Amino acid sequence: MNILDRINETAAYLRDKVAIDKPVGIILGTGLGNLADEIENPTSIDYASIPHFPQSTVEGHDGKLIFGQLNGVEVLAMKGRFHFYEGYDMDQVVFPIRVMRRLGVQTLILSNASGGMNPDFKVGDIMILNDQINLFPTNPLIGPNIKELGPRFPDMSEPYNLNYVKALHECASDHGMKLHEGVYAGVSGPCFETPAEYKYIRTIGGDAVGMSTVPENIAAKHLGMDVAALSVITDLGIEGLVETVSHEEVQKAAQDAEPKLAAIVKSFLQKIQG
Ligand code: HPA
Repeated sequence: MNILDRINETAAYLRDKVAIDKPVGIILGTGLGNLADEIENPTSIDYASIPHFPQSTVEGHDGKLIFGQLNGVEVLAMKGRFHFYEGYDMDQVVFPIRVMRRLGVQTLILSNASGGMNPDFKVGDIMILNDQINLFPTNPLIGPNIKELGPRFPDMSEPYNLNYVKALHECASDHGMKLHEGVYAGVSGPCFETPAEYKYIRTIGGDAVGMSTVPENIAAKHLGMDVAALSVITDLGIEGLVETVSHEEVQKAAQDAEPKLAAIVKSFLQKIQG
């Protein structure tokens, strides 16, 4: 079955299960899933029961779509995402984004855990993404273009909506927080970086590095969506400060910062839709 038919079938299945009215899409990254528990009137659907949906394999990634409201705003949240390093092909990694668009999502909020390379960053800080570098060995748009989804050569001059960047800073300051802003470099993983790799990624302009988000952003921009993204710095890849890192430490640091992220996302929803 071709991609368009699969997108349409999955969207029709979900529409049949739950009334959906132009929700804001949210992807909850590693350790950042608790926001899903705050969704009001939730309808939760396991990925396992959704036709054509890949299944999540990583610990700390639950695998559920949750529909409901946050701060009175209609949302569609993904608790658990599909990473390239798990062995999915790029079509599978970005499939949920394309289904979201088919369900009327125009604004997409992405979150992730990342390694900080900017010397101003500390573990537990949050960075607003204002740009990205694709260091994956491929791109989700390689192959015949599906013109129903978007153009052959999508513009990427504003991968993260700059009005959203401004709004996120305002939301943070309303909560007495100051967030960093910077460039996220997306890599395949699953290894964390060597000291030389962190240095290289910093040299080419990265402030933080992680194993997600970039393919999803590319698919979303292809579809003409507006994207905001937040990254929790869970470890440091700063020259001279590169320490051992494990998935458990990444999860723990992300979980510790989750309440801050949740507060900002909720204010942001109100600001853009309220
Ligand atoms: N590198 C890549 N991905 C990550 C990191 C990192 O240091 N931390 C969390 N995800």
